[in-house]
Amino acid sequence: MWSSSADQEPGALERREREQAPRAAEIADETQREIAGGEARTRAILDAALDCVITIDHRGVVTYANPAAEDTLGYSVDEMVGRQLAEVIVPPSLRDAHLAGFARHIETGKSRILDRRLELTAIRRDGSEFPVELTVTRIDLPGAPSFAGYVRDVTERHTTEQDLRAAHRRLEMIAAEQAALRRVATLVAGGGTPNDVFDSVCEETGRLLGATSVNLSHFTPDGYNLTMAGWSVNRSHVPAGTRLPLDGETIDRVIQRTQKPARIESYEGIAGALAALVRSLEIRTLVGAPVVVDGAAWGALIAGSDGSAPVSVGTEARLGDFTELLATAIANAESRNALASSRLRIVAAADETRRRIERDLHDGTQQRLVSLALELRAAQTEVPPELDQLTAELSRIVDGLGSVQDELREIARGIHPAILAEGGLARALKTLTRRSAVPVAASVEVDMRLPEPVEVAAYYVVSEALTNTAKHANASRVAVDAKVVAGAISLSVSDDGKGGADPTMGSGLVGLKDRVEALGGALTVQSAPGGGTRLHAQIPFDADSR
Ligand SMILES: Nc1ncnc2c1ncn2[C@@H]1O[C@H](COP(=O)(O)OP(=O)(O)O)[C@@H](O)[C@H]1O
Ligand SMILES: [Mg+2]
Repeated sequence: MWSSSADQEPGALERREREQAPRAAEIADETQREIAGGEARTRAILDAALDCVITIDHRGVVTYANPAAEDTLGYSVDEMVGRQLAEVIVPPSLRDAHLAGFARHIETGKSRILDRRLELTAIRRDGSEFPVELTVTRIDLPGAPSFAGYVRDVTERHTTEQDLRAAHRRLEMIAAEQAALRRVATLVAGGGTPNDVFDSVCEETGRLLGATSVNLSHFTPDGYNLTMAGWSVNRSHVPAGTRLPLDGETIDRVIQRTQKPARIESYEGIAGALAALVRSLEIRTLVGAPVVVDGAAWGALIAGSDGSAPVSVGTEARLGDFTELLATAIANAESRNALASSRLRIVAAADETRRRIERDLHDGTQQRLVSLALELRAAQTEVPPELDQLTAELSRIVDGLGSVQDELREIARGIHPAILAEGGLARALKTLTRRSAVPVAASVEVDMRLPEPVEVAAYYVVSEALTNTAKHANASRVAVDAKVVAGAISLSVSDDGKGGADPTMGSGLVGLKDRVEALGGALTVQSAPGGGTRLHAQIPFDADSR
């Protein structure tokens, strides 16, 4: 553009060239300086970069590396420059793939890695491998291509990520464990039967710990290992009810002796039937914790693995959380049982006393009265006819003796229902309903003899309920139902009276409840004011159903 003005004056071009020659040299110098300055600037920038920057030529030979690369890789710049990049930074296992990819790119211009953020493994001078983030850019200048790689050591980020993932897994584990513990604790607090708690603990711990089998053992006072419950993935647990001597150095034996958690990696060579059974079930590793009740080793909770996955460290402690709940459930059940049997003993002792009093009254006092009455009658016949006033007096005494006998019979019946011993519950209940002051609709389906304490309790339930109806209810009708269902006798007495029965207001209903519960039964009273009263009792009589 600016050369067009030079045409205006002939000879001007030459002159200007002459004038401008030093200026062109100056410009060339300046350009040179600027290029050098640019390079220095670029180098300064690259040298200060925190990431490794490495450039290579079209043969893959390192042409530049910055100080960050020195720090990260452990080579000096001089050691790197002139060497194949693959030798400097690519781990041996990836070297062939790298070289092939590089050659393909030079040949075809295609690449899967250019200008993308990649995560790879790099190697340091000392041979240690580490994770890197990498970007490779092609520098397109005239001539053969060259490349710049930016490499960032991401070891720290990886560690942090791994730590985070591990922390997350731990949290998840804790949450799962807390949920399982809560489920078992709810069962214990709800008064679940020990067997329910045992089953639940075996299954919860098995799933939580990833065990293949879990067993709960009880150490019996006579030296046996009684398996109370079990759970497993492949029916590989010791079946509940298995009772074997506590011999051989099984985990059960170790825990019983030490009262501490234990771990056994193999049952090979351990003596005894229990060890043989465990071997035959292909349980390999066993980890267990003691169940301590009242300071003594009651038993052990034992997790097993068939060897497909290791039983993790810390399993012992985690089992410990569950064995505490087991101990609570067992202690609860033991005190419940102790209470029930002490109630039973008290009721039985009271019944025995009442039976004795009834017998004494019947066989002693009553018989004595009968013979006294007979003697009086005999004496009466001896009285001379003129003493008719004495005869009348004696007759009055004989009549009086008769009603004392009736009263005594009535009292004796209340003290102990001797009629039970004679005709069984069905007859005794029918007699009760016949004697009721309020009309009774009775349905009695009991065609068998039940254990004596059960018959006595059933009798008292109906007797007290009918007496209450007569005494308190102001009822017009009362229905009595008695039947035997599934190992228990079920009794109900319902009246249509004023309701509002309150066991705390007297002693009859409370006494019945004690008696029925001592036998493992249950007694309920429904008595809304104005809605009549229904008393229901269920008393088991099978050893099995208790
Ligand atoms: N069938 C009934 N209908 C109405 N009230 C009743 C009935 N049974 C019991 N009650 C009330 O409940 C209280 C407690 O009964 P109970 O324990 O048998 O004691 P008691 O009969 O010795 O008073 C009675 O005092 C009575 O007020
Ligand atoms: Mg009463």
